[in-house]
Amino acid sequence: MIRFEHVTKRYADGTTAVDDLSFEVAAGELVTLVGPSGCGKTTTMKMVNRLIEPTDGRIFLDGEDISGVDPVELRRRIGYVIQQVGLFPHKTVLDNTATVPHLLGVKKSEARLRAAELLDLVGLDPKVYGSRYPEQLSGGQRQRVGVARALAADPPVLLMDEPFGAVDPVVRERLQNEFLKLQSQVRKTVLFVTHDIEEAVRLGDRIAVYGQGTIEQFDAPAVVLGAPATPYVADFVGADRGLKRLSVTPIEESDLEQPPVVHLDDPMRTAAQRLADQGARWAVVLDGEDNLHGWIPAESANQRGKDGTVREHARRMEAWLPVGASLKQAFSTMLQHDAGWIAVIDDAGEGRFLGVLTPARLHEALRRSIDADGRRVSRREVEVETVG
Ligand SMILES: Nc1ncnc2c1ncn2[C@@H]1O[C@H](COP(=O)(O)OP(=O)(O)OP(=O)(O)O)[C@@H](O)[C@H]1O
Ligand SMILES: [Mg+2]
Repeated sequence: MIRFEHVTKRYADGTTAVDDLSFEVAAGELVTLVGPSGCGKTTTMKMVNRLIEPTDGRIFLDGEDISGVDPVELRRRIGYVIQQVGLFPHKTVLDNTATVPHLLGVKKSEARLRAAELLDLVGLDPKVYGSRYPEQLSGGQRQRVGVARALAADPPVLLMDEPFGAVDPVVRERLQNEFLKLQSQVRKTVLFVTHDIEEAVRLGDRIAVYGQGTIEQFDAPAVVLGAPATPYVADFVGADRGLKRLSVTPIEESDLEQPPVVHLDDPMRTAAQRLADQGARWAVVLDGEDNLHGWIPAESANQRGKDGTVREHARRMEAWLPVGASLKQAFSTMLQHDAGWIAVIDDAGEGRFLGVLTPARLHEALRRSIDADGRRVSRREVEVETVG
């Protein structure tokens, strides 16, 4: 969708901001550009919508060399959220959001209807916020308006330059979550600039780690964290990169163990027999629909003279997660419930029981997140074409 071929930008004073850059972003992919101040992130981004012209090299959008595309026409296809939000102070939130479609010739009333939908989408009730002016909003709310405005013309491509830079960490995390949810619905091709490695790792399908005007590594978050390409990248992602990797590696079905399973209406004798056969200390208890109910320890199953059914002795299970949750959530759930294992259920429908995650399996899953070649796109499936 976006392809850089040997792109260099030298400013008039001789500063080389971007040096022989080649990379490609697939359609629907979210790529984060991360690196220290002054490394060329904004310059890279502004060359995509021709606010800055490269000194050398070519940039393609959807296969078309953008140097031949009229900049105004080009910018219609590209939403842009700038570093300082840049809302018009004298326009209401609704009119700020409606600006681009209106400029593109959409009737004002229609543009406003669309703007109201978008404000809703980014979590701002248009009835409450639509008629306010930017100065009457919090920093986080302003940034949401910035995102809504960039989406207003429904462009296939979004450029976002530190869109959540000006808010505190708590609000920022909420905006990030909302944005991920939004992106899973709208599936734009996104270049997202940040200097915060945590943010880059959370949001990116892939991350481009910048050195000075060059990309040091371009990979999935788990790979950048698990196998940094250079000492510079290792230093940039930080000494706690192992911990960070927990948060970008999802639980998969193949990570799970299959303990003995009994049902609520099974006689206790059957349960005791199954535990003894498998030499297990506990069994998972399911209801009639194979949904998770709880667990039963071997002691209570083995006590002599116990009749009746599993139902009377089962304990509730609080430590469970849906498949696809991160290993970090798994670890945190184990700690929170002081549990030696957690149950994992289907993330769709009724929550069918799939298996359990143990600390040993958690460790294996973390190692699995980068394969032997250190290559793996771990989170959402994206079509990734490599650059020669
Ligand atoms: N118009 C200009 N003329 C000369 N040098 C410039 C110009 N604009 C940017 N630069 C320089 O180019 C380099 C890259 O700038 P750029 O704005 O791309 O950095 P950045 O990675 O976005 O940094 P930040 O995280 O601080 O926003 C910097 O050294 C900057 O000083
Ligand atoms: Mg910048």
